[in-house]
Amino acid sequence: MSWFKKNRQNDFPTYKFERGAGRPYHFLDSAASALTPKIVLEAMDLYYRTYRANVHRGLYRASAKATASYEAARENIANFLHAAPEEVVFTRGATESLNLVAYSLAATLQPEDEVVISIMEHHANFVPWQQFAQRFGFKLRIIPITKNFELDKEEARKIIGPKTKILSLVHVSNVLGTVNPVKELSALAHQYGATVIVDAAQSVGHRPVDFAELGCDFLAFSGHKTYGPTGIGALIGRYSALSQLSPFLYGGEMIAEVTKEYSVWNEVPHKFEAGTPNIAGAIGLSAAVDYMQEIGLDELAKHERELTAYAIAQLSTIEDVTIIGPGADQDRGGAVSFSVENIHPHDLAHILGNHGVCVRGGHHCAMPLMQELDLPGTTRASFGIYSQPKDIDALVKAVKYVRNKFGS
Ligand SMILES: Cc1ncc(COP(=O)(O)O)c(C=O)c1O
Repeated sequence: MSWFKKNRQNDFPTYKFERGAGRPYHFLDSAASALTPKIVLEAMDLYYRTYRANVHRGLYRASAKATASYEAARENIANFLHAAPEEVVFTRGATESLNLVAYSLAATLQPEDEVVISIMEHHANFVPWQQFAQRFGFKLRIIPITKNFELDKEEARKIIGPKTKILSLVHVSNVLGTVNPVKELSALAHQYGATVIVDAAQSVGHRPVDFAELGCDFLAFSGHKTYGPTGIGALIGRYSALSQLSPFLYGGEMIAEVTKEYSVWNEVPHKFEAGTPNIAGAIGLSAAVDYMQEIGLDELAKHERELTAYAIAQLSTIEDVTIIGPGADQDRGGAVSFSVENIHPHDLAHILGNHGVCVRGGHHCAMPLMQELDLPGTTRASFGIYSQPKDIDALVKAVKYVRNKFGS
């Protein structure tokens, strides 16, 4: 693992802070939220210090610069994901992006229509469709998984059909690490004229993602999972698909004209960005894109792939540990879920935290999946560009300690 000599932890001030306080610190919770590199903090700091102003309104220097930077951020994110700048709508994150599309499209569905999701969806892509199915009367169909934790493609082929109006699918599972065949199923759903939405919250920033190549109509992701700040993300939408979508929020910025009787919407994407946007967030996210591109997405993916294989191999050596997800021989994401017999994931995560090993324990906002797996939850380790094998060694040591002290 010669490439591990490149340790990027110095790019992330959190390490200095935690270790400076004399604490052990092994951050393995990037699937929940990645750490933020200095370059992102500096970009946002520069905005607040030197050109703090609103966008699209003021005619003075700072406002013109803020507008230019905000729109340059849009362009940078568009290039990063192979979309056009007008196909990038800034949102608060994946949850808001998915809700934006669901709110607009659900109201157009009839009782005979079907929306297809999978059992491994995050609540952000599950609850909106469940609630709208109850409100508007359309049918929600759920693709199951196989015993190998993969999407059941055979079932998917049976479920997706002429009644399918929307297919909304997670790209990479935040629990299992499973990578779904979104390109293939997108093409299938399009044969029936359906709209395809991809929840890319766990793929953007972890592997190269090409919006044009995936062939979907909408794609959602969050800035805070891609080395950017919290409170910013984007909905990427094909221009024609965005043009047909109704606005989600009403207010300033999103209108071209308002009279006492009617309103005319602004152009795409501005028609979806009502009110003052998260300007510093967009600038920070753009800096995060620069950071990732400087390293290279292939390099980022390779780093996570090797760490994932190492973690699965090491955890598998511990008695009573079961990996909940595909093996390292599969094309999989970097979320490694596992269970330890007779130890609740909350207890395990809590004790690991006391050892400075930061993981997530619980249902990971995927309760229907946990019900399907008949598990109270899992313990999940996940990686970023700063993760190192020694972090995994610390995890394995702490899991062994907990297992020996409290396990069966
Ligand atoms: C697969 C997936 N989708 C959606 C979300 C929601 O992202 P956010 O909380 O940033 O809106 C998450 C967050 O964990 C996720 O993992």
